[in-house]
Amino acid sequence: MIKLDVDYVRSCFPAFTQPLPSKTALFENAGGSYVAGAVLDRYFHFYTANKVQPYGASEICHAAGEQMDAGRQAMADLLGISTQSLTLGPSTTQNFNTLAVACGAIVDRGSAVIVTDQDHEANIGAWERLCQRLGANLRTWPINNQGELCLEDLEPLIDESVKVICMTHSSNIVGTINPVEKVIEMVRPMGIGIIVDGVSFAPHQWPAIPDLKPDAYCFSTYKTYATHLGVMYVAPEFAQRLDPQCHYFNIQYPEKRFDTAGPDHASIAALAGLGDYFADSHQHHFGANSADLYSRTQEISNLMHEHETELCQLLLDGIADLPLSILGRSTMQGREANIALRSSQYSSSALSEALAKADIAAGHGNFYAKRLLEKVGIEDSEDGVLRISFSHYNTRGETQRVVDVLQQLHRSE
Ligand SMILES: Cc1ncc(COP(=O)(O)O)c(C=O)c1O
Repeated sequence: MIKLDVDYVRSCFPAFTQPLPSKTALFENAGGSYVAGAVLDRYFHFYTANKVQPYGASEICHAAGEQMDAGRQAMADLLGISTQSLTLGPSTTQNFNTLAVACGAIVDRGSAVIVTDQDHEANIGAWERLCQRLGANLRTWPINNQGELCLEDLEPLIDESVKVICMTHSSNIVGTINPVEKVIEMVRPMGIGIIVDGVSFAPHQWPAIPDLKPDAYCFSTYKTYATHLGVMYVAPEFAQRLDPQCHYFNIQYPEKRFDTAGPDHASIAALAGLGDYFADSHQHHFGANSADLYSRTQEISNLMHEHETELCQLLLDGIADLPLSILGRSTMQGREANIALRSSQYSSSALSEALAKADIAAGHGNFYAKRLLEKVGIEDSEDGVLRISFSHYNTRGETQRVVDVLQQLHRSE
């Protein structure tokens, strides 16, 4: 059975040659990952070789435009979608804001939008503001006392007034993988749009948009080992129903329809390096292969996911008998390697500080999912939860260090 070669993976990340990243065990990955060397190379090249207005007649402007096109094309190929359905924005928060304004075309007074209590604020606030502006109803899919979303709690919220459902693929706190496929199956016949926040999911499992078939899917590349951008897929037929948010003379270009910001050109060009990273990793693990980039990316992403799942299981086993409560499931069944917990003996900030003393980076707080924390009864959401979020470059040794610190802390009482 092929397993992820973590030494190889780490050799692809120049961060590990630097003093702080090499001594720190990074478990803050849900906040942002290290950047693959192939991405950095493209980024540096763009800024040094041709940081000019792209797409002009001169050789240098042409080169800049070509590199940006290659970045866009690589992202589309990685996702198995067309470049026309791909919007690159500065962040997912910005993309959701843009999308919510665009949805003013299908939401009106008396209609309803469903959000969840589990989402990051980026996929709630934009919809709340839209509903307030248009006099539409905001309905909330509630969480259970574990912080999880259950389909039976969504059903009563659905009727013909609902225009869109905005939900997370997996929460940045709870980690459970939500049943997006089932929601789509249930509501698509009613013409309801499904908008998915994949920010917390994509770093652990590369999204399979062609299989999932959402109406819109967003994630952030600064958490998937690349530059700081927000990727937004909008299904072509859904896009046509929405108000364009671009300059009027760009409406004819589908890929510009929701482009309000024109993010950093070098960051777009550098996305081609993410394509290189997945392709090279695939070749390293599986040998030369002529399958399309999307299929190869799915395959290598499965290896990354299996590796993270193993590490996270090691953590769960190591802390099982400590006085810690985990939000969501305490098994890896149906969850991502992203664990949020609280201690009955220490504040979350104290846990984070104890880990920091052992050169382990794991933050605490509400991670912008403030409503979720309040709903599960965590009143001090600034102290919030300790979050231990894995990436595929983490090692067993690093994970054991986390376990050791948490054990020592709780057993010394
Ligand atoms: C689950 C989730 N959704 C949305 C966002 C917002 O993404 P961005 O920082 O790109 O605006 C984040 C950021 O941490 C997140 O974790």
